[in-house]
Amino acid sequence: MTHTAKGPVHGPVKLADRSMTSRRQFLQTSAAFGAAGMAGLGVTRARAQSRVEISFASAAFFGKESFGDLCDTFNESQDRIFVRFIELPPPSSSTEVFQGLVQQLARADGTPDVFSQDVIWIAGFAEAGWALPLGEYFPDTKDYFSGTVAACTYNNQLTALPWFMDSGMLYYRRDILEKMGAEVPTTWDQMATLAAAAQGAGDAEFGYLWQGKQAEVLVCDAVEIITSNNGAILAADGKSALVNQPEAVAAIQFLYDTIATTKISPQNVLSWDEEPSRMPFTAGRGTFMRNWSYVYPIAQDPAASDVVDKVGVAPLPAFDGGKSAACLGGYQLGINANSKYREAAVEFLTWLSSAEVQQRIALNFGLAPTRANLFDDATIKAEQPFMASLQSVFTGATARPITPKYSEVSLALQSGISKAFVSGNVQAEMDALATEINRIVA
Ligand code: GLC
Repeated sequence: MTHTAKGPVHGPVKLADRSMTSRRQFLQTSAAFGAAGMAGLGVTRARAQSRVEISFASAAFFGKESFGDLCDTFNESQDRIFVRFIELPPPSSSTEVFQGLVQQLARADGTPDVFSQDVIWIAGFAEAGWALPLGEYFPDTKDYFSGTVAACTYNNQLTALPWFMDSGMLYYRRDILEKMGAEVPTTWDQMATLAAAAQGAGDAEFGYLWQGKQAEVLVCDAVEIITSNNGAILAADGKSALVNQPEAVAAIQFLYDTIATTKISPQNVLSWDEEPSRMPFTAGRGTFMRNWSYVYPIAQDPAASDVVDKVGVAPLPAFDGGKSAACLGGYQLGINANSKYREAAVEFLTWLSSAEVQQRIALNFGLAPTRANLFDDATIKAEQPFMASLQSVFTGATARPITPKYSEVSLALQSGISKAFVSGNVQAEMDALATEINRIVA
């Protein structure tokens, strides 16, 4: 099975792909069990009625399989618990997935019992009392990177269980850089110069592909470029906005200029989130791209990519005097505080967060483990070599503002930065945005 051919995996989901994957899994399982297996599956279904049924809601990540397939494996592995998978929109619709989950959790009826949460929702869910404190059930977190444990902790309580990490990175066309005799750029100016040169030489239509859509991913792109100029969204105490300070304004100005001045990016980036920016890159139409790690296995899949073995991955560039920065992303696990089936939920989470499942997610989805020793896993090293080489990018990634008001801050950022891209009045729009953020966090 390949990825969903050249279609979206992080963007809008084709439901047919999901059912095809399940069907394949079903056939494989049946084959493995032989004729008795078919009967066995019938038994499983009958037995499901006497099982404790819990629900698991998650954004629909897709790779070589789906999270529904993980649930199928769990359901097949024992006969006491049955997990019903509730598939939410893809992670690129982070804001919409959040709003849907908020509506469900606010009903306080125990559904879903278990959920995955974008790292940015953890504080808000904990503050609302919707996420069960997990310290009692998972006292030992020493196998996880300390940064992800910190991201899962709110008010000194573990309210989420580390699952997988995401971080922004620079994809580049190794063959184009080699042809130019160029090194991988470490500054934004170097990147822009090389991108323009490759466009001029006709090597790639687009110089730099990024995500300018008014969506959560725009906040991620902004956090990275602002941090790489020694700027920040909020001051360290979380109480005042820094988005209108010179470092942040120059960083947003750079992104605006990629479209308006240097023209290394097409106007279309303003409507692109992850997949629309990924597709031209793996079709061989771009020299550089900022994206998450899920792209790597797609770029290496001949069924989905025209640039197999031509793509390199590196830390994102920085401004002169600044340091490369990656935005911390990824989804962590949570139990609904109102779940009536805590024990079953804990058992499912124990399995879902295990080394075995994290390895499967790394291999089949290109999402990095939160268990530190998996970065030395031989299979992961062989199939996803970028994970080990960029380990410090993952572990050193910059968090988006950690506040229970995050969703409001994010919406303000999405709208304010979009306005700057449309009007080109970057300073004025960042001033207005700072006023708005200050009002929210006051
Ligand atoms: C990725 C990240 C997530 C982020 C989202 C934005 O899924 O893991 O943290 O919010 O992209 O689109």
